[in-house]
Amino acid sequence: MDGGRAEAGRGAAVSPPGAPHVELRGISKRFGGAQALIDVSLAIPRGTIHGLVGENGAGKSTLGKLIAGVHRADSGELLVDGRPTRYRTPREALEDGTTIIAQELSLVPQLSVFQNVFLGAEASRAGLLSDRSLRRRFDALNRRTGFELPAEVRTGRLGIAEQQKVELLRALAREASLIVMDEPTASLTTDESEKLFEIVRTLRADGVTVIYVSHFLEEVLALVDNVTVLKDGRLIRTSPVADETPARLVEAMLGRQLASTRAARSVVPEGAAVVLSVRDLSREGVLEGISFDVRAGEVVALAGLIGSGRSEVARAVFGADRLDTGTIELDGERLAIRRPHDAVRAGIAMVPESRKDQGLLMRRSIVENVSLPHLGALSGAGVVARRRELRQVGAITAKVDVRGGGLSARVTGLSGGNQQKVLFAKWLFRSPRLLILDEPTRGVDVGAKLGIHELVVSLASTGMAVLLISSEIEEVLALAHRVLVMRGGRIVGEFEGDAIAEEAILHAAFATAPGERESRRAEPVTG
Ligand SMILES: Nc1ncnc2c1ncn2[C@@H]1O[C@H](COP(=O)(O)OP(=O)(O)OP(=O)(O)O)[C@@H](O)[C@H]1O
Ligand SMILES: [Mg+2]
Repeated sequence: MDGGRAEAGRGAAVSPPGAPHVELRGISKRFGGAQALIDVSLAIPRGTIHGLVGENGAGKSTLGKLIAGVHRADSGELLVDGRPTRYRTPREALEDGTTIIAQELSLVPQLSVFQNVFLGAEASRAGLLSDRSLRRRFDALNRRTGFELPAEVRTGRLGIAEQQKVELLRALAREASLIVMDEPTASLTTDESEKLFEIVRTLRADGVTVIYVSHFLEEVLALVDNVTVLKDGRLIRTSPVADETPARLVEAMLGRQLASTRAARSVVPEGAAVVLSVRDLSREGVLEGISFDVRAGEVVALAGLIGSGRSEVARAVFGADRLDTGTIELDGERLAIRRPHDAVRAGIAMVPESRKDQGLLMRRSIVENVSLPHLGALSGAGVVARRRELRQVGAITAKVDVRGGGLSARVTGLSGGNQQKVLFAKWLFRSPRLLILDEPTRGVDVGAKLGIHELVVSLASTGMAVLLISSEIEEVLALAHRVLVMRGGRIVGEFEGDAIAEEAILHAAFATAPGERESRRAEPVTG
């Protein structure tokens, strides 16, 4: 495609290279009782990549949204190319050449991929182009990113990873001179992430400024020029990336050192009973002859590439997809699971990969989200029951460390990572026998991730069986007692104990010989 454009938005005086493209002076922003940003001052030179890190709820997304015209500051000044600016809408920011790839996807599910990519593009040069030339631009963007997105498919039918790619294409199509990327790689594969980094570097070479928010600290350090740490809405420091290390960043983010980065793995007792027993699951064209057990206290991980069938196994066990053949037993009892409701009643819980469309009622409170699916268990609606409910919800949300509002706070006001924790709490509320986790720590910060890992370990040690799907190989290595590797809808490898190693898992997943391929993260499954 036509590379990012070097000139700023129309009519804007372009600052010389090295001068601040965007500058915040004493910016504060409050949402009700939550002080999201406090007196933040920051200057970002044009044509640089600027990293933004911090715990869940630190204010990263709020800062990005302020710059992109989604929010307005309560006090302080925003300068773009030295001009004091006060955008009232994202459209106004876009007219100035600024756009955002939001953490929570903002696509219109009813529209096609093509339509979403050029949605709102009237504000940029694209508005002057015909449909046919837009289509050519779409194809060029697809080639440039290697995403291979289908133009005519309804966006709502795509999995999360695919939708995230549509967001990325849209930002590129807008040819902005300033792009805020809020956790853009959260659901991309290693190869796709690499491709994105290449694109971001090309954008920089073209003079585009990129603000990059991520919880993958190594990724940030490898990509950005400068990095800012936020904590509780305050700017802790901004440094050239050469001055930072992952450990230093973590310490600044959390205000303390992280003693270990790994939860101590639990031990599966000798002779632990089989909790989940899956035999011969098959679904034409998707799964073939899947058989495995998960014992009490055991964490079994499913590894594999896109389309390998990992999520499909989880969905089958949870009753979300129909099967052609196969049996599922829980604690020795054969289950007739036709829908998720049956699975929940049998004692199975699943934390799905997407918080927004699969798990949470965004406009309801934390307490409602956590307890609503379990109302049957809370007998009566009396004051006593209500109080007990609050106590139980309080205990579980404290355990997973939900922050950013009391129990009656609406979920929509929580930061992305804290929403993920509420989802977690909801499914742990009634200690299930089998816990299925699909990307359980996507979008949560390093401290909270360790907390969730410790929680999984402690749940397993009480005898819960856990089936884990994760694109982060570190997570699999940290938690799994056993790893089943899937390829083409079958289980093609099994590793246990000391045999669990990154290289071995990846070779099995890719069907390559050792040494052929190196990769940091395994690939997530879409939909
Ligand atoms: N629309 C909103 N309504 C109410 N409170 C909000 C809203 N948006 C953000 N907040 C609050 O502002 C604070 C900062 O949230 P923000 O989303 O900026 O965090 P973040 O650093 O992006 O976190 P994460 O890593 O979890 O995405 C939090 O306390 C959050 O609850
Ligand atoms: Mg955020």
